[in-house]
Amino acid sequence: MSLELSAPPQPEPACADDGVWLECIECDEQFAPFDEIHYTCADCDGLLEVRYANPPTFEAFEGSGVWRYNAALPFEEGVTLPEGDTPLHEVPRLREEIGVDSLRIKHEGMNPTGAFKDRGMTVGVAVAKELGVGRLACASTGNTSAALAAYGARGGMETLVLLPSGKVAAGKIAQASLHGARILEVDGNFDSCLDIVQELAGLGEVYLLNSLNPFRLEGQKTIGFEILEEHYEDYGEYPDRIILPVGNAGNTAALYKAFRELVASGALDEGEVPTLTGVQAEGAAPMVEAVQNGRDEVRRWDDVETRATAIRIGNPVNAPKALPGIYNTGGTAVAVSDDEITDAQRDLATSGIGVEPASAASLAGLRKLRANGEISADESVVCLTTGHLLKDPDAAFEAGGDPEPVANDTDAVLEHINDEEAGTLGGIAQKISAAADSPGVPALIGGGIGLAYLAYRRLRSDDA
Ligand code: F0G
Repeated sequence: MSLELSAPPQPEPACADDGVWLECIECDEQFAPFDEIHYTCADCDGLLEVRYANPPTFEAFEGSGVWRYNAALPFEEGVTLPEGDTPLHEVPRLREEIGVDSLRIKHEGMNPTGAFKDRGMTVGVAVAKELGVGRLACASTGNTSAALAAYGARGGMETLVLLPSGKVAAGKIAQASLHGARILEVDGNFDSCLDIVQELAGLGEVYLLNSLNPFRLEGQKTIGFEILEEHYEDYGEYPDRIILPVGNAGNTAALYKAFRELVASGALDEGEVPTLTGVQAEGAAPMVEAVQNGRDEVRRWDDVETRATAIRIGNPVNAPKALPGIYNTGGTAVAVSDDEITDAQRDLATSGIGVEPASAASLAGLRKLRANGEISADESVVCLTTGHLLKDPDAAFEAGGDPEPVANDTDAVLEHINDEEAGTLGGIAQKISAAADSPGVPALIGGGIGLAYLAYRRLRSDDA
């Protein structure tokens, strides 16, 4: 089976272009990479993978960012902003408290548009240029649309994005909008947006840049290379486990592909491959359901809901690539509640790491698996955080503390910050009435303002 961890390098087929070709993971049919557009297998509709005659070794990597890994990519360079080379933060307090041998946070929110999608787009948009296509498109829970809009703009191409109406965080829509994407808000969830954009792509109307496009995952594969290199440099060994949030399961598939290629070249032993562990929100957990039942197929969930809107997905299209990644590395998948996600978001914030809710799912998953003993104290763990805090300002407000209104006066501010009650509803009303220098009516007005302020905050969070 072509997705086994131990699959040896393959002979180069006649259809290859400079050692690169596309291959179906179901029926092994091979296709030329850039002659025609293929998203799935023309014979059986299975998912396609980009394959290389020469799988990469660590020695072949030079430079920085995604294109450091061009020995493992279809081109030497792409449309770049540039991307990759993200921090692998140490979090000593969290490590100690959770109780693992080492814990690092790979913060993909530090990419140019604030999410890991940039790694996929730098390659995907380069392929679009090679193919000479006109309009680029994607369905998105938000981050893919922001990255597509930015990289499309950089490449001078038209972009179209389909978003689930009312379910995309503000920062992401703002990005897609400013970078000039045409934004269509669909009265449906992400999965229906993807159905539509796939049909448009099939009709030749658009070039699809969702992670169903095998070239996107080539760029995202570099997260795996970077983690391995950085971890080895710091500890002289690779991490035991990588924990990541799962939506469409593209990243899970991409990391597994990175490891398979290094094993195929002999650069990595099978035993050194980190255990891939996926985390989903309880309200959108079809992959977790499949893994916990040991199944090779995922059941589509029609109704999905979670505060982590980035992973509000019921039909993970990359599951046929990602499930072998979890099974063959000895990994697992776990679901976490929205409250566990928000707690983990706060935990990361106390270490100075600002992430959006979906990103915090990885840490929430670690906590859960450590607590139930599935992860042991002697493991070295890397949690992937996929998107930046500013992507979803409303969720950040919800998870964080409220701003406190104060009078325009230094003494009042001093008194306020030294007052233990300040910040509570009663405290706010008290301060405002005191500033008005008379009780009674001003106290009522003050209380009213305080209440109106809280109602406004609640309304904003309901909108989100
Ligand atoms: N984390 C964030 C912040 C995401 O935006 C996504 C996916 C994921 C995790 C899940 O990654 O799909 O590779 O399993 N966002 C897509 C989008 C679906 O449209 O932005 P995956």
